[in-house]
Amino acid sequence: MSSEDDQIAAEELQPEETPELAEAGLDEQHRWSELADQINDAQEAYYGLDSPTMSDAEYDGLMRELEELEKQFPQLRTPDSPTQRVGSAHRVTDFAPVTHVQRLLSLDDVFSIDELTDWLARTDRLLGGRKPSWLCELKIDGLAVDLVYRGGRLVSGATRGDGRVGEDITPNVWTIAGIPHTLPGSGHPELLEVRGEIFFPIEGFADLNASLVEAGKPPFANPRNAAAGSLRQKNPAVTASRPLRMLVHGIGAHEGLALERQSQAYEVLTDWGFPTSQAYQVVGSTREVLDYVAYHGEHRHDLLHEIDGIVVKVDDLDQQEDLGTTSRAPRWAIAFKYPPEEVNTKLLDIQVNVGRTGRVTPFAVMEPVKVAGSTVARATLHNAWEVKRKGVLIGDTVVLRKAGDVIPEVLGPVVDLRDGSEREFEMPTHCPVCGTKLRPERESDKDIRCPNSKSCPAQLTERLFSLASRHGFDIEALGWEGARGLLASGVLTNEAGLFDLDADQLMRVPLYTRTAKKSDPPEQVVDGRVLSAGGHKLLANLETAKQQPLWRVLVGLSIRHVGPTAARALAERFGSMDAIRSASVDDLATTEGVGQIIAEAVVEWFTEPWHREVVERWAASGVRMADEQPSDEKSLPQTLEGLSVVVTGSLTGFTRDSAKEAIIERGGKAASSVSKKTDYVVVGDSPGSKATKAEDLKLPILDEDGFVRLLESGPAGLGKA
Ligand code: IVH
Repeated sequence: MSSEDDQIAAEELQPEETPELAEAGLDEQHRWSELADQINDAQEAYYGLDSPTMSDAEYDGLMRELEELEKQFPQLRTPDSPTQRVGSAHRVTDFAPVTHVQRLLSLDDVFSIDELTDWLARTDRLLGGRKPSWLCELKIDGLAVDLVYRGGRLVSGATRGDGRVGEDITPNVWTIAGIPHTLPGSGHPELLEVRGEIFFPIEGFADLNASLVEAGKPPFANPRNAAAGSLRQKNPAVTASRPLRMLVHGIGAHEGLALERQSQAYEVLTDWGFPTSQAYQVVGSTREVLDYVAYHGEHRHDLLHEIDGIVVKVDDLDQQEDLGTTSRAPRWAIAFKYPPEEVNTKLLDIQVNVGRTGRVTPFAVMEPVKVAGSTVARATLHNAWEVKRKGVLIGDTVVLRKAGDVIPEVLGPVVDLRDGSEREFEMPTHCPVCGTKLRPERESDKDIRCPNSKSCPAQLTERLFSLASRHGFDIEALGWEGARGLLASGVLTNEAGLFDLDADQLMRVPLYTRTAKKSDPPEQVVDGRVLSAGGHKLLANLETAKQQPLWRVLVGLSIRHVGPTAARALAERFGSMDAIRSASVDDLATTEGVGQIIAEAVVEWFTEPWHREVVERWAASGVRMADEQPSDEKSLPQTLEGLSVVVTGSLTGFTRDSAKEAIIERGGKAASSVSKKTDYVVVGDSPGSKATKAEDLKLPILDEDGFVRLLESGPAGLGKA
């Protein structure tokens, strides 16, 4: 998010909560996985190998069951589900078949910690008293490849295919950075089969789609498809132009190489220059395996590539051999799958939202779908340029991603599922709310705006709502509906009259009234109605709000780029609205935390006569336009001078804002993210990933009591504990 404006826009487009969808249990997840595997294998055999493994009727039966299951539990319908693919993924290929020296097996999946613990205990038991070491590693969401080295030279690269026979993609594999063509030194094995995963780095994915769309080609739905599409190219120059990477996760056949442990194989392969993951870990206990799973669940987005789970393997190769394999997977390894964060859904429409500063933002309206724990029906598409870059059409099946707490994002369209009825989104040329012609502020801007900031009802509503928020004047009784009601009734024409509102005016806003009761004083009844509790509360809130500190008044003015941080800095440096208003750009820009862009925005804002009128009306209504000198902030002992403190989770005696304020008032920095530079992390109830990160970085962690002691007496107040 580049500016306060962006933050507000993102907040405006939080997903709507819609009714819960049926939750799939473990049985359903297992059945889904079983069906998907059987269908995939059958497709591979039928299309890729010309040797069908099951009858058409049997195949259709499985597909029908899978479709039924997904209809009942839509969250199971991942973008890679066989029901979501048509044609191309299994088209008969032009690539020559390659028989793998040793068969590539698949992995059995578990979907819960209980199942994983059961698997660990069972495997331990099967080993009959020989204590296993567990090799934990990431399950990379990419495409399996099999590389064959003879006499230390790369002679073949192939896709997994059905596990026995894959496609020959040797010329393409040659182009992938990091895959050694010859092994260094001497004494390498006569034969070596190396297995790994090819992936498309997440970072380059959006740019790839943008360049494909620009060239008039269909974009990819997600990085995994981009990896597959980039690898299965007839022209190796195309593969070479894509930033594909590989990570090794096993070896197959080998001659002349004595190994005892899988982790030892990784060490040897690393020495030979193979790209091996640095994230693997060999552990001895169930507890440590579960810690690994939990850690990477929290950090799955800190990686270059996507992961869909964790793979746990028995490290000892003799033990692996003793455990053996089933027909499709080894008994010595298991994949723990995280809940899917990508799902397919239908893009029903692209609508636009007019924000607080007039920015017109297209957003996706989708069939509600459950993803990463919540039901999502909307996602911002930022601007028309982004819609084009992603290559999505209205009516497309799209891949929707919601990574943990992160705002949902439309990744791209599933082009194979298009039926010709899809249509392109057209960005409106005029404001959908007030009809004013839209324009970018500067020619180079990707965003377009409604320039009618004075009277566009959409902007007015958003501004009123935003000024009342807890980042602004904190007027609890004024929500979005209230803002709309005040404007729609004509009681307010803009924010200038907000602090003059009285009971008579509020009586004209249905939301702030209720039907009169017999017990109501007759002089307060107008047309059978009286002011509601919400109406009384709004009047009381407005009185209190007039005493808010200067920085909150500044935030309430909706000056572009001036959010709480810049507003605090300006208020502290200048002390009064008059001083800020008469300061030059240069003067403003020298304030710490206020650069040229914010300074220019402030000066420009005050050049508009109706903006100045808002300030004057507020001042006349009694809104405090200067902080008292010396300010409250300075009168408190500066116990946190030079210290950076992060608060995560909920505290009983502080709101999120008041905790932040308490830190700042005592000279500290209230940081929002944990880093090595953080001095203290205050952890309340239900903390987020910041608490885990603090533990990882071994930072001092405080509970609420510790926080209060820190505020009162600084680090000395914490004593040795
Ligand atoms: S081990 C015999 N390790 O997941 C063991 N596979 O769902 C077979 N995969 O076909 C593979 N990351 O393409 C292994 N760290 C990892 C992996 C991994 C991704 C893929 C692999 C396999 C598929 C099975």
